[in-house]
Amino acid sequence: MAMSEAFLHLDPLLLSKSGANFGNRRNLGLVELHYNLRTSRSGLQSVSYFSTDRKNRAKGSCFLRCKCQKADSVSGVTADDGRPDSVSIYGMKNVNNVKEFELNQLLKSDKEGFANGTTNGVGTVINSKNSIEEEAWDLLKESVVYYCGNTIGTIAANDTSSSSILNYDQVFIRDFIPSGIAFLLKGEYDIVRNFILHTLQLQSWEKTMDCHSPGQGLMPASFKVRTVPLDGHDSVTEDVLDPDFGEAAIGRVAPVDSGLWWIILLRAYGKCTGDLSVQERVDVQTGIKMILKLCLADGFDMFPTLLVTDGSCMIDRRMGIHGHPLEIQALFYSALLCAREMLAPEDGSVDLIRALNNRLVALSFHIREYYWIDMKKLNEIYRYKTEEYSYDAVNKFNIYPDQIPPWLVEFMPARGGYLIGNLQPAHMDFRFFSLGNLWSIVSSLATVDQSHAILDLIEAKWSELVADMPLKICYPALEGEEWRIITGSDPKNTPWSYHNGGSWPTLLWQLTVACIKMNRPEIAERAVMLAERRISRDKWPEYYDTRRARFIGKQSRLFQTWSIAGYLVAKLLLANPSAAKVLINEEDSELVNAFSCMLSANPRKKRGRKEFKQPFII
Ligand code: GLC
Repeated sequence: MAMSEAFLHLDPLLLSKSGANFGNRRNLGLVELHYNLRTSRSGLQSVSYFSTDRKNRAKGSCFLRCKCQKADSVSGVTADDGRPDSVSIYGMKNVNNVKEFELNQLLKSDKEGFANGTTNGVGTVINSKNSIEEEAWDLLKESVVYYCGNTIGTIAANDTSSSSILNYDQVFIRDFIPSGIAFLLKGEYDIVRNFILHTLQLQSWEKTMDCHSPGQGLMPASFKVRTVPLDGHDSVTEDVLDPDFGEAAIGRVAPVDSGLWWIILLRAYGKCTGDLSVQERVDVQTGIKMILKLCLADGFDMFPTLLVTDGSCMIDRRMGIHGHPLEIQALFYSALLCAREMLAPEDGSVDLIRALNNRLVALSFHIREYYWIDMKKLNEIYRYKTEEYSYDAVNKFNIYPDQIPPWLVEFMPARGGYLIGNLQPAHMDFRFFSLGNLWSIVSSLATVDQSHAILDLIEAKWSELVADMPLKICYPALEGEEWRIITGSDPKNTPWSYHNGGSWPTLLWQLTVACIKMNRPEIAERAVMLAERRISRDKWPEYYDTRRARFIGKQSRLFQTWSIAGYLVAKLLLANPSAAKVLINEEDSELVNAFSCMLSANPRKKRGRKEFKQPFII
């Protein structure tokens, strides 16, 4: 393809500013040529490129390029399924100029916002009173990553003191969610839009590990923007997005939560901006459907919960959460509801929507019935009969009462309850997992009573779950032989550290959304005040260790972006609670009806096979 022809074929939406990653901000090549070559699932390949040297570049054209490269333009050539099949990219430009321009714009609007009180689409008023908040905004902006000159995400941590970066210089999908929400609440929409559209492109990437490819709808755990020399051109670089679907991740864990979070953020973007054009795009609709198809695919499983391997969510190391971990179920439920709201009604989607509705009913029934424990239920389990072979067994999963751990007998308050971490045949994982419980409230997977009871429990067990720094990722820690066997003697997950009972400030934002939904914001306010006592002084750690969260985590990164963004989202939402609706799923009356039909066939009553004949079709 001739150069001029290549230029003509540039995808205007992808014709974005020359990218340099955050770490490469000062890198100025005399000539920058950007190109991208990718193979789509359909096997199509395309390469587009052009180059200019810097002296031919007028300042004006740089600004013009800045404008035309906004992600609005991420449309253009698409394959039959609506996804871009040509790849891309680019122009070149003085990276520093572009970045400085954008950063200055951001800083300028901040200053104006801070001075005047900025009102954004959902009416949040941001004021400048709080210096911790100001510091957090500055740090959040410093964590922004650019791709072809456009903001595209935030790096996981910006800890210059750490000698081992590992993949903390990448944009993690799950870590970006609080960043994205903070930007949305502040009226900075472009970064979220870019993130949504570019990660969508990664969904159809070729991905394999040892000759095996995971399902097509999988979203990466993280990606890195690499500025690399172009083959055969000494002084020419190209910008590439380099996703990790778990093929490089420690432990090769599958990021099941990424696609679910992506759907949740997409809905929040639409609700916050009022701009539904993104979710209505054919490629975005296809992306949603691909995620759903992957999650709704039939397998061998007997349960409506999503069956996953260990480490497939925020806890991305071996921690004994394989099977049906609560966090994944809550995100799954939330994503199904969000997707249902966004899917365009069309003939081709009827079966998918029916499958989705059936799953919603079955999933909420299963979790509300079988994952719930409080004093009453615990006492029932304590008196369970076992080895019941029949259709009307009360103890369906053959749980042996001796499984009730001694700590739980002490831990369970008289008032309050929670959803257990995992349920499998003959196994209940009684650990309390914060994110799963909080997101069950947010998504209405838990009933209203259950949601209040979870918050009651958090209040009653404040010194165990919140202590000196909100919030324990799970409780209690695995210790001794259990730690050795379940974690595989993981030195990072020693008792009361990291995923094993460590405390993660990022969870503040999910706590805040849950408290606002239940009209109990004072609980979140108390937690935020506690965090404010140390978090900035401690340099925004990723996590804290010890039972009471007294130490900064042993291997904790500092300036961890989602600790910063989580705090900001909590503050913004507490200042304007109605903005939380962009994340909340209200209980659906059709679902409640279907659910009560199931309940009237009370699972605790004797039940014959006949009653299961009818699938629930809404
Ligand atoms: C750790 C966390 C994971 C997070 C990543 C980047 O691997 O376990 O949840 O996404 O760091 O911060």
